[in-house]
Amino acid sequence: MIITNNNEEKSQTQQEKPVEQNEHNIDLTLRPQQFADYIGQETVKKNVSIAIQAAKKRSEAIEHILLYGPAGLGKTTLANIIAREMGVGIKTTSGPAIERVGDFGAILTNLQDGDILFIDEIHRLNKSIEEVLYPAMEDHKLDIIVGKGPSAHALQIDLPKFTLIGATTRYGNLTAPLRNRFGIIHRLDFYSQENITDIIKRASTILGITIETKAAEKIAQCARQTPRIANRLLKRVRDIAEIREHAQITPETVAEAMGLLEIDHYGLEPTDRHILRTIIEKFNGGPVGVQTLATAASEEIETIEDVYEPYLIQIGFLERTPRGRMVTDNARKHINSAQK
Ligand SMILES: Nc1ncnc2c1ncn2[C@@H]1O[C@H](COP(=O)(O)OP(=O)(O)O)[C@@H](O)[C@H]1O
Ligand SMILES: [Mg+2]
Repeated sequence: MIITNNNEEKSQTQQEKPVEQNEHNIDLTLRPQQFADYIGQETVKKNVSIAIQAAKKRSEAIEHILLYGPAGLGKTTLANIIAREMGVGIKTTSGPAIERVGDFGAILTNLQDGDILFIDEIHRLNKSIEEVLYPAMEDHKLDIIVGKGPSAHALQIDLPKFTLIGATTRYGNLTAPLRNRFGIIHRLDFYSQENITDIIKRASTILGITIETKAAEKIAQCARQTPRIANRLLKRVRDIAEIREHAQITPETVAEAMGLLEIDHYGLEPTDRHILRTIIEKFNGGPVGVQTLATAASEEIETIEDVYEPYLIQIGFLERTPRGRMVTDNARKHINSAQK
């Protein structure tokens, strides 16, 4: 189980692969610590700020919050900012990491009044954990069974008045009873080009890189409207600038990096193009069920659904219909021009 007491999330991959330590640390330095640095998502920020101020005024814990939307848009970042703005502690875990009811009971009883429990990938909680969570969220009670066999009996423990923040890429996979127990529910949207450009400029400043505005805009164009990808591309562009000994990042530096990464001006990677081409060539443009598509394209269903598809839908290259996925005319045009 992954639990941390500080304001950072710990990733298992990072523990296993020390070579990635440096990248991970950079990611943490780039992560905004307060609302003032959290660019975009104005509606969410406004609403969450009001909830925070109101809760503080009443000296209460803030209501349970559910954040959903595609990966890399700032859910974990926002959860940590909320804890900081509330002035409370945050414990981080994730749906698949909580395996046993006993472990989960220990997490809950170790919280302090007002603390935030952040559960990432909350759609992957198992059923028995979810059932413990309901009374914990609603009445701050923990129902447990003590003992075994005939001497077993139910016990109820009072829990601290904590706030649950759940994050998910799959709102639709949450059960209705769980969804209904959140008082505040927000969807994070893809970011505008302007917001992404600002995020790249901010990250450049933190990393001590000089970047031309045109270059920042060019990276933004390739960043799939996603802050995490913007930061990742910036680091690759910085690598090129360093080995070419460019004093600052120019549009040419960006063009070289994107060429090496095979990322086009829509931000599509080879796998995106492969998925689109598979639908066009093997299924006559669709509709094709995601399972059939995954097999034909040699990809995992989850990878298609969570990593590639949301952005392809966002830019109008792919449509989800009841009968499966279909490519659009714009996607066909783009793929055809890329092949020439
Ligand atoms: N609104 C934002 N402003 C600036 N940077 C952001 C913003 N949202 C996310 N980021 C950057 O993108 C990275 C990924 O965000 P994260 O919160 O981990 O996304 P998610 O949890 O939704 O997958 C963060 O480390 C941070 O550097
Ligand atoms: Mg996250």
